[in-house]
Amino acid sequence: MNGFSPNVIGERFADGTSGERFTVVNPADGSTVAEYVLAGQEDVHAAVAAARAAFPGWSGATPGERSGALHRLAGLLSERAADFVAAEVAQTGKPKRLATEFDVPGTIDNTAFFAGAARDLQGKAAGEYSADHTSYVRREAIGVVGSISPWNYPLQMAAWKILPAIAAGNTIVLKPAELTPLTSVMFAQACLDAGIPAGVVNVVTGRGPVAGAALVAHPEVDMVSFTGSTAVGRGIGATAAGAVKRVHLELGGKAPFLVFDDADVEAAAQGAVAGSLINSGQDCTAATRAYVQRPLYDRFVARVAELFEGVRAGDPLDPATDIGPLISLAQRDRVAGFVDRARAAGAKIVAGGRVPEGLAHGAYYAPTLVVDAAQDSEIVQQEVFGPVLVVLPFDADDEGVALANDTPYGLAASVWTRDVHRSLRGTRELRAGCVWVNDHIPIISEMPHGGYRRSGFGKDMSTYSFDEYTQIKHVMYDTTAVAAKPWHRTVFSQ
Ligand code: NAI
Ligand code: MG
Repeated sequence: MNGFSPNVIGERFADGTSGERFTVVNPADGSTVAEYVLAGQEDVHAAVAAARAAFPGWSGATPGERSGALHRLAGLLSERAADFVAAEVAQTGKPKRLATEFDVPGTIDNTAFFAGAARDLQGKAAGEYSADHTSYVRREAIGVVGSISPWNYPLQMAAWKILPAIAAGNTIVLKPAELTPLTSVMFAQACLDAGIPAGVVNVVTGRGPVAGAALVAHPEVDMVSFTGSTAVGRGIGATAAGAVKRVHLELGGKAPFLVFDDADVEAAAQGAVAGSLINSGQDCTAATRAYVQRPLYDRFVARVAELFEGVRAGDPLDPATDIGPLISLAQRDRVAGFVDRARAAGAKIVAGGRVPEGLAHGAYYAPTLVVDAAQDSEIVQQEVFGPVLVVLPFDADDEGVALANDTPYGLAASVWTRDVHRSLRGTRELRAGCVWVNDHIPIISEMPHGGYRRSGFGKDMSTYSFDEYTQIKHVMYDTTAVAAKPWHRTVFSQ
């Protein structure tokens, strides 16, 4: 990875100007993946200027022209899929299997979806809603979008921010997480190669409080979109509110996994393992709290523990590896801290709760199953962002639904039952932006992703994302062609 540049400003690939060197580390073995100089405020200014300059041309292009460029982008991403997989695995340590079957094809499909959706911005039909006027709606691009993305799914999060914004005619400056900038820069390169004009997609890689904060506060940035922690999102929301900028926040989650006593317990156990361990649990929709109705509780705990013990942690490049390391040693220690404090507070660790044998050279943590934790304890209430599942029992249906809703978050949830009324109740009463029935995790380009409550607001993916990245203009024409219009009499009569 020699010659890696953290900034894409117009067509220029450049080092940052902050003077601070940064090393991208492969968390599987501590090896250096890339070194670069972090972006500073001047780089943010240059990138915003490039995006501003590109805005009139790009927003004025026809939807067909924008769509054509996105189709070419989808083709290039497919051709370069192996390179994207390699870079994503190196900078995150995620298993190659996951990057190959989920991250990269998901991004290609998102791109193909927005290539089509770009030509189909919907609005109300034009009409005479007053006897004397014709009204219609224009959906217009907002301007320059400043986006900040996290390290858990670097490529997918960059794509979720960039694609709907540019499909709708905006230009964008993306600040990826400093730990994982590689695939965002490669994505911007592919945009240029696909014929998307220089300045439409820019990348600046710097520290959150420096480059991220400068981007959010920049007066030429019209809208801010962010995916990351609730604490940082709250600050970004406050800055955006102060400047009256549109803001889109996709924050943390603490997804409940609600298992009623008529559920297929084997399906629920399998689903809980996949749903809690995907991406080493560094997924804002991951299953984190399983509430299991008392008659199934012991069988569920025993089966999940058995499956957890069989999960293979190891080299991300080995096709047999199920689970890779966490993003960094700091994140591993953060996760271990949650588990240690839960244990000290009286919870029982049924599986894991330690660094797996022989893997102390990387940021690995074993799949961890926790029981007997209190509902109001930290491990049940806060986002751990690691391979940790807590299981709690419940008796009455009402109690299960209430416990599932009892955190400040509301991003995703699942309900496990074969009873149509219970499933309907779960989908209606669970307060989350997504509720799965008898599954947990799958996402698709056509459907929206985004939170309720402290998980934020605004939708990624799907045509609903155009509600974020466009503004709506009402255009009203007089149809009477008379000077003294009847309604004037309400104001004056002569
Ligand atoms: P973070 O929220 O600090 O980082 C996310 C992004 O925000 C990064 O690009 C970072 O550089 C940027 N950022 C940080 N401070 C900023 C500021 N003051 N202004 C503008 N941008 C700023 O997340 P962090 O500290 O890396 O992880 C801590 C926890 O956050 C995780 O353990 C997890 O619980 C949660 N998280 C949730 C994510 C999600 O997908 N919802 C993704 C990443 C983290
Ligand atoms: Mg942080």
